[in-house]
Amino acid sequence: RVLDAEGNVLVPGIVDCHIHNREPGLEYKEDWESATRAAAAGGVTTVVGMPNTDPVIDRPDHLELKFERGEASAHVDFQSYAVVTSENLDLIPEIDETGALGFKIFLGSTVGDVPPPNDGEILEAMERIGETGKRLGFHEENGEIIEHYTKRFKADGRNEPIDHSHSRPVIAEQEAVERMITFAEETDAKIHMFHVSSGSAAEAVARGKDQGVDVTAETTPHYLWFTEDVMHEKGNVARVQPPIRDAEERETLWDVGIDQGAIDCIATDHAPHTPTEKKVDDPFGNTWDAISGFVGLETEIPVMLSFVDQGRLTLEEWVRRHSTRPAQVWGMYPQKGSLQVGTDADFTIVDPDREWTLADRTELHSKNCVTPFEGETFTGKAIATVVRGDVVAEDGTVVGESGYGTRVDVD
Ligand code: DOR
Ligand code: ZN
Ligand code: ZN
Repeated sequence: RVLDAEGNVLVPGIVDCHIHNREPGLEYKEDWESATRAAAAGGVTTVVGMPNTDPVIDRPDHLELKFERGEASAHVDFQSYAVVTSENLDLIPEIDETGALGFKIFLGSTVGDVPPPNDGEILEAMERIGETGKRLGFHEENGEIIEHYTKRFKADGRNEPIDHSHSRPVIAEQEAVERMITFAEETDAKIHMFHVSSGSAAEAVARGKDQGVDVTAETTPHYLWFTEDVMHEKGNVARVQPPIRDAEERETLWDVGIDQGAIDCIATDHAPHTPTEKKVDDPFGNTWDAISGFVGLETEIPVMLSFVDQGRLTLEEWVRRHSTRPAQVWGMYPQKGSLQVGTDADFTIVDPDREWTLADRTELHSKNCVTPFEGETFTGKAIATVVRGDVVAEDGTVVGESGYGTRVDVD
């Protein structure tokens, strides 16, 4: 099968190492089939699922269940993280043998209420995961700071969506990054900072790299595209953890994170919730009850290609951060993130000049498609998605079969 790639660009398959596919247990929001359908349509060839499902992925049998469900229904290749809590430190070797891509700790509370381990347990987790050779990633926000300001703002009667953002201040993120870097220096662990939202946290990552700590980091298209003004325009629709920051933080994120290289990976934090949970009918009400997160799999390539079009980064630097580096960071290279594997290669063909407006969120393929990118116009779009030599989507239409996708083997 020959694809007409004239005027278009063929790049190694785009790898998104941060999605909430919600299966098992939260299929009313999303499942493997719908998440990977969106991935295929959007040009993404590999996705990695987060463990805050029901049950949470904290035991070998839960991980096996997650893999089985993926094998049964995924359109593109996939993997999964396992979560580390106070309860499962002893299970780390077994979870590793079951084939988890890596581990995640949620510092502070997030969606799904996975309780954070204490600092001693985190140190021990770093030691134990170090023995497996795998990497430990963090939802990098200090929960005590957030809890304090949330309580305080509620008591003061503050109830604008922007107040929610300010209750999760940059310092909560920066401090968590710095503390985990200190722990990693002590334990020699390989660590990763998921969804870095601020320039201040990117600077902390840069300092860690300078000290010789094996710390890698990710940011998302939304932190690079929006400023916190979007909270005034779209309210809870744009609510996310960590929150979207002010213009100055965004500028430093670009500068230190992208231009100077502190940020290794781009990933979405694709986090589907129902329109009711997102309060789309009343986006400026019920601030403290609205849920955080929104979808991203079908807008991530258009956003990044728009930055390429604007001259904010080169095509090569985009591909490095959105395919090669994520595959390397999580031990999937060169199986993923490379064209070296010949006819078994994954690739994405993009049209860098294609103008596209996401006029209506129902154009998207997820089960629930609320996103602050609704209404935005982009330059650049994926026009074909090829997984291990087979076309799984063409021009936004999924042509592959559910169940074709398979787990990326990393042992
Ligand atoms: O906004 C978020 N949503 N941040 C997280 O860390 C979790 C995610 C979710 O699972 O919905
Ligand atoms: Zn997170
Ligand atoms: Zn997430």
